[in-house]
Amino acid sequence: MGASLGLAQSPDLSGVWKANFAQSSLDDPSITSYAILLEQSAGGLKETADTVNRYGPYRSITTYQFSGREARGSVHGIPARIKAAWEGGALVVDMRIFNTQLETLHKTYRLAGDGKTLTMETSGTREGRPAQSKVIFEKQPDAAGALLRQPEQTAAQRFKNVQLLKDVPASRFIDAMHYFTLSVGGDCETCHVHEDFASDANKHKVTARKMITMTRGINEQYFEGKNEVRCYSCHHGMKHPQIAPMPKP
Ligand code: HEC
Ligand code: HEC
Repeated sequence: MGASLGLAQSPDLSGVWKANFAQSSLDDPSITSYAILLEQSAGGLKETADTVNRYGPYRSITTYQFSGREARGSVHGIPARIKAAWEGGALVVDMRIFNTQLETLHKTYRLAGDGKTLTMETSGTREGRPAQSKVIFEKQPDAAGALLRQPEQTAAQRFKNVQLLKDVPASRFIDAMHYFTLSVGGDCETCHVHEDFASDANKHKVTARKMITMTRGINEQYFEGKNEVRCYSCHHGMKHPQIAPMPKP
């Protein structure tokens, strides 16, 4: 009874929400559009967020389980552990993101008494720097969520020279690029030539395609198609996987 009463009392954050930029302070000042669709059930919350910043449109989809225990997830393609729980009427989310250095994010979602504004506060560290933002969202009519409910463009539709990861939603494709970078070390230019992502002139990009095919093959053959072996499994942040505990090249 106690637990179900607790759930019954947690506010329902469901709906379509749009950031009020005049009242918000964002980490990334180049964001010009920010809308989220929240779909809440007894067990959790699904958040679909569409932003537009200087790199163009980006969609992130995150699911929170209200179990109060850490669950596996990912943030922008980087593996993470995510914990969500209701505390004093607010949804509190803690994330540990296993990037080159551990990143932590603490988020709270608080609904105003009239149910028309939602305040999302974030603090923590991203890429070694402190991260801090406060976004005031205003409730929109449900019809405003049409775009958020539509599937995103695929990578093949958005980009010029995608040969393997064609059907992946464009934002997930960019997330995969972040995971590749974490896995092999360096930055995007480990595999790309400067400012031309479509070009195949960097030989590591060509090798990376073979690696994608190889990794898929291993998972299909030995792990029933589950993503058990991934780039980091072998590379551990290095271009040349090690065969014994040796000094990094
Ligand atoms: C380990 C190698 C590797 C790294 C590191 C990497 N990429 Fe890629 N990238 C690829 C491969 C391979 C493709 C092509 C995938 C395919 O054909 O399905 C690609 C394609 C792309 C494309 C599509 C370009 C087009 O128009 O066809 C973009 C955009 C892109 N990468 C962005 C990035 C960004 C941004 C980073 C750094 C955060 C990055 N990549 C890091 C291997 C890499
Ligand atoms: C089963 C282990 C394994 C997995 C999984 C794996 N790789 Fe590799 N990768 C290797 C080995 C071994 C080499 C050859 C290294 C060398 O030449 O020293 C290599 C080479 C590369 C190279 C070229 C480096 C160079 O200097 O020549 C790139 C880029 C690369 N891998 C990217 C990836 C990406 C991206 C993924 C995930 C899609 C991936 N690898 C998954 C084992 C792996």
